[in-house]
Amino acid sequence: MVTFRVPSGPLRADASVPGDKSLSHRALILAGMAAGVSRVEGAGPGEDVAATRRGLEALGVAFDGDLVSSAGIEGWTTPPGPIDAGNSATTLRLMAGALAGRPFRATLVGDASLMRRPMGRLVAPLAALGASVEVSPSGGPPVTVGGATLHGAHVRVPVASAQVRSAAALAALQAVGPSTITSPPGFRDHTERWLEAIGLGRRLSEVDFLVRPGPIPPAVWEVPGDLSSASFLLAAAALRPGSQVTVRNVTLNPGRTGFLDVLEAAGARVERRPTGLAHGDPVGDVTVAGRQIRPVRVSGVLAVRTLDELLLVALLGAAATGESVVSGAAELRVKESDRAAAAVGLVRSLGGEAAELPDGFTIAGRGGLAGGEVDARGDHRLAMAAAVAAVISPRGVSVRGFEAAAVSWPGFAEPLEALWS
Ligand code: S3P
Repeated sequence: MVTFRVPSGPLRADASVPGDKSLSHRALILAGMAAGVSRVEGAGPGEDVAATRRGLEALGVAFDGDLVSSAGIEGWTTPPGPIDAGNSATTLRLMAGALAGRPFRATLVGDASLMRRPMGRLVAPLAALGASVEVSPSGGPPVTVGGATLHGAHVRVPVASAQVRSAAALAALQAVGPSTITSPPGFRDHTERWLEAIGLGRRLSEVDFLVRPGPIPPAVWEVPGDLSSASFLLAAAALRPGSQVTVRNVTLNPGRTGFLDVLEAAGARVERRPTGLAHGDPVGDVTVAGRQIRPVRVSGVLAVRTLDELLLVALLGAAATGESVVSGAAELRVKESDRAAAAVGLVRSLGGEAAELPDGFTIAGRGGLAGGEVDARGDHRLAMAAAVAAVISPRGVSVRGFEAAAVSWPGFAEPLEALWS
């Protein structure tokens, strides 16, 4: 159990954050699919990213520091056993897409949390491309793919899931003939932007993307900082009037910046300074300054664009006075934990008032929380959000299972507590 005390004054920092998790998976997989030596600079240090590296190693890809050496996807070899994606749905779903076009069958599994997560959503999109995909009778892992020749198709992804879109794109790269991929809006379009940057795809509209099959060239992939990780520090600043936190060179992909919009709506001062594009995907610096927090309403596309940060929205709601509502976020239920229940549990166990909705939650904000104990339930974002809750909890917050934070940010307690001093 790790205990976080309430800070005595405003929080100030120019903080550095780990490499972006979503982009680290993509960079490693694209590098592993390319024939030759690629370099992935700034990959995230968390356990999820390590799971992708290990999965690729099982297929014959070699890693030496930043360097990734591969015979190319055509040279991938049958893995010696099931590939273990650990806690990482991105690893499992993206690798299932890449493996769908291989001549051999491969099976993907994960930890207890991942084994409960929905994989049925992969089946129709990959099957449209001619892939043979098996999931367990309950719709979860093990996922077994491979052994079929893929053809171009019009792929409809029923949820606004970047993971499923990316799985379809990685499979479509190996198909005979071009494919289009479509889904509801709001998803992070990192894969689409990066494929466009290397000439293997083209954006047709906000939601429609054309994949042109072809070999992936070896490349130098620069991974910017993780805005989702940064959001924990930015939220800490927003929760304490007079605070100011800056993070530099983080992804500003529009599918990732919903929380910045929510912070602004809640009354925080948010300054975004775009610095350019990395492989067609925007990056930049962000400064958040804390002011009096107002209640917020998050729904629709904004909920999709804020999905990984909604536990932090629960804290904003608790810091405000009045009712905050998050809806249109049923996907919360199928994350590393049931995060609609987790958001409510987090606020209640620290003395606040909250209620679940089928597709979100409501918070009856009372200008802060009291403090207490929170169980991270093996969910990295819940562990980190609970630690951040200390900013508005005079009695401090003890987090049981805080080590789960290592899934995305090993050592998170240090930069967080550095804000205090
Ligand atoms: C991710 C996509 C999102 C997000 C997850 C990472 C990605 O999941 O919540 O943390 O890297 O593609 P969905 O695809 O399920 O929406």
